[in-house]
This record gives sequence, C-alpha cells and structure tokens, in this order.
Amino acid sequence: MSSNPHPRLSELATAQLGRGFLLGAATCAYQIEGAAREGGRGPSIWDTFSHQSGHTVNGDTGDVACDHYHRWRDDVALMADLKLEAYRFSIAWPRVQPSGRGARNDEGIAFYDRLVDALLARGIQPHATLYHWDLPQALQDRGGWGNRDTAVYFSRYAEKMGRLLGDRLASLSTHNEPWCTAVLGHATGQFAPGLRDAALAVQVSHHVLLSHGLAVAALRAAGVRAPLGIVLNQSPVVPATASASDRVAAQSEYAAFVRWYMDPIFLGRYPIDISLKLMPKVEPGDMDLIRAPLDPLGINYYTRIWKSVSEPVQPAPAPWGVTDMGWEIYPEGLRDLLLGLRREYPRLPPIYITENGMAEADRLQDGRVDDARRIDYVHRHLEALAQARAQGVDVRGYFYWSLMDNYEWDSGYAKRFGIVHVDYATQQRTPKASALWYRDTIAALRAGAGHEEVAHG
Ligand code: FCB
Repeated sequence: MSSNPHPRLSELATAQLGRGFLLGAATCAYQIEGAAREGGRGPSIWDTFSHQSGHTVNGDTGDVACDHYHRWRDDVALMADLKLEAYRFSIAWPRVQPSGRGARNDEGIAFYDRLVDALLARGIQPHATLYHWDLPQALQDRGGWGNRDTAVYFSRYAEKMGRLLGDRLASLSTHNEPWCTAVLGHATGQFAPGLRDAALAVQVSHHVLLSHGLAVAALRAAGVRAPLGIVLNQSPVVPATASASDRVAAQSEYAAFVRWYMDPIFLGRYPIDISLKLMPKVEPGDMDLIRAPLDPLGINYYTRIWKSVSEPVQPAPAPWGVTDMGWEIYPEGLRDLLLGLRREYPRLPPIYITENGMAEADRLQDGRVDDARRIDYVHRHLEALAQARAQGVDVRGYFYWSLMDNYEWDSGYAKRFGIVHVDYATQQRTPKASALWYRDTIAALRAGAGHEEVAHG
C-alpha cells in the first residue's frame, strides 16, 4: 500500500465532496464515556457482559474507557481544532433512563444536553444515535430484545429524547447496526448479552426493527424536527469462486446481512426469494410501522465479505492489505455497495456513511503517531464515495470511525481505530497524522482549493 503521507484528493473528489458535503467523525457512548457508575447511570448489558470472565480481551471493560463523561469539553474543543463539521455520538439509554422504563435521570439527560449545545456553539453538527448496544440490564432481566415489550419501552425513550434534543440535532437515528444486536448478541454470543440461540436472534432482529418503526412513529407524532434515520452495517458479498453454488451462497449471505434490514424498511417485507431457514413471528401492522419513510439512511462500511459453500473460504489476495482487525481493506466495495443499493431500492433516502475506518497497531513516538496507512485508507474511501456520487448516489456525508481510540467491544483496548491517539494511563489525547491530514483535507475542500495549497503540520 502507498505510504504517501499527504495524498491529495482527486479533482473528482474535490468537486464531489465540496460544499454541502459533511465530513466528521463518530463515537459511541459505551466505547468512550466511562463513568459507568456515576451520575445516576444504570447498568447496561455491556457492563454485565464485559465483567464476566472470558468475554473480552484482557477482561477489559468500559468502566473508564476514554473518560469522555468528564472530558467532553476538551473533546469538543479538539473536534473544533480538527475542523470537524459533524460529530456522530450515541446516547446511553441507561444513563438517561437507568432501568429502561419509568423514571428518567436528569443528570444523564443534562450531559447530552450540554454536549449538543457545546457542539452547536463550535459549529459542529450533532448527529445522535439512540441505541448503540447498551440495553439497560433491567430490561434484559425481562427478556431483553427477545421480549416484544422492549420495542415499546424503546419508543418511549426515543420520544423523550427526541422532545428534549430534537430541535437541535442534525439527525436522530434509532439503532446502530441491528445485525450486530441480533446476530452477535443472540446467535454467536460474541457481544452482549452473549446468547447463542439462532431462532431467538431472528426474533430479536424483528423486535429491533419494530422498535425502530414504533420510535419513528412516536417521534413524528411528537413533531420532532430532527431528520430521522437508522444506521445499518453493510458489505457487498462476493462469491469466492465462479461456481453456481458459491454464487447462490453469496446471494443468501447478502440477503441475511443487508436485505434482512433493507427490505423491511424500504420494501415493507422480509426477503422471501432465498431460502431462509428461520422466520420471525410478525404481528399485523408491524411491517407498516417498519417501512415508515426515513429522512437519512446511515451506512457503516468496513470491508467486503467473501462467501463460499466450502469452508474455509479462500479469499483472493487483498490488494490493499488488511487492518489490525484482520478485515480486508477494499475501498471499491463502498462504491459498489452504494451503486447496488441504488439499483435495488428506488425509495432510498439521502445516505450518510456513518462509520468507516481502520484499526492499526499505532505507536506514539516522540509525541507523534505516523499512521500513513490510515491516511491512505480514508483517502481511498473518500475517492470511492466521490465515484458513487458522480454516478448518482445521493451521499451527503462521511463520518470516520472513530474520533479517538476507544473500547473496541470484545477486543477491549487492544484495537486502535482513532484519528486521535488515547493514552489510557493518562487519558492524554494526541492527534495522529491522519487527524492532521483530515483537518487539512476538510480545510482545503471548504476553501475550494486543491489539497496541496494547505500547509501540513
Ligand atoms: C462497528 C461498531 C462500532 C465499532 C466499529 C469498529 O460495527 O458500530 O461501535 O466497534 O464497528
């Protein structure tokens, strides 16, 4: 992979990502806030799961994480220094409503209230997500997402937050990556609540989608002004060989991973043209709720998926290498995915890339992190995005994952995704070379200039 530390955006990208296109960064509550037992916050399923032995690398938990709960002012100032135009964060349900139903926690609500105001004061658009995997443990004790009632409790929480923040948010998304909630949480057990029950996972996916639909209905009825969306993780799926069976396997995988969420939301039904072994119990009216029109759609893109009927799958050599997560770097996949969606879903709303980024074994040396590979990664994905836009896909923004190194779920603190380095012993933040490159790229785009005209450093 190229190690040019200061790649310039092409003319195409400079034109496509110019005025009106948003460049920002993303985080998530449990991965950065810490203060797990402060300010009236209740326990979530991730507190429970990460504290049980064997679930996370080194037994790491989000108890302290990046201590963002106490350092948010400095973190917002840092975002402003980096010229970020938008910030995507999540609201911890157990911080604002400790048991997931009933009493709210004003101290927790005040935290997000101040955060949103601080972002706006700096000219940074706030984009909030209501559920990034931290279900209140008290709801898990009543069956969690396997219990249909959880969808109703979620919609009440959503409505409350929408009423409080909705006039100041640039967007409000219901869920982050329902596939992970359902499959990693309930089928493979890799994520909280750590269950292994495929039939339950399918029912969970439906309850999560239902909760999305109920929340959108409640937010619209309450007159919430923020554009309403959902964030889905997606990848193109590639057959490992040209055989017919591998092609069918790839189609089924795409149906389970992408269409399982896109079809209900944009077509009002689950995919039925492929052989899916398990179907959820759906009640009358559910699909109408789930298909309610959305303002933006958030897409998280990291890599492509290889599929074959023969295990293990032998993918072709990765032309751009792999990340520290072992994920193939494949920028063209972002363009191909978006072009495919535009063909498949005529009712597609404007899209934001709500996550895209890479983990790298970064080292802080003499106060610097030279993450040239990450610069290359972001550069190439922005170019892919510009190509998709040039071919008519309505993509309006890009959020790098993540603003800073943070708690990477079951990988604990071992994987660093940030453009800002975090020293977990001191909580010192150091912008990596990629952060400075991103800052200069944003500045150059907004000045309507080519990147070479901006000084680095
Ligand atoms: C996504 C998650 C995000 C982060 C990245 C690496 O699936 O939404 O929280 O962990 O992966």
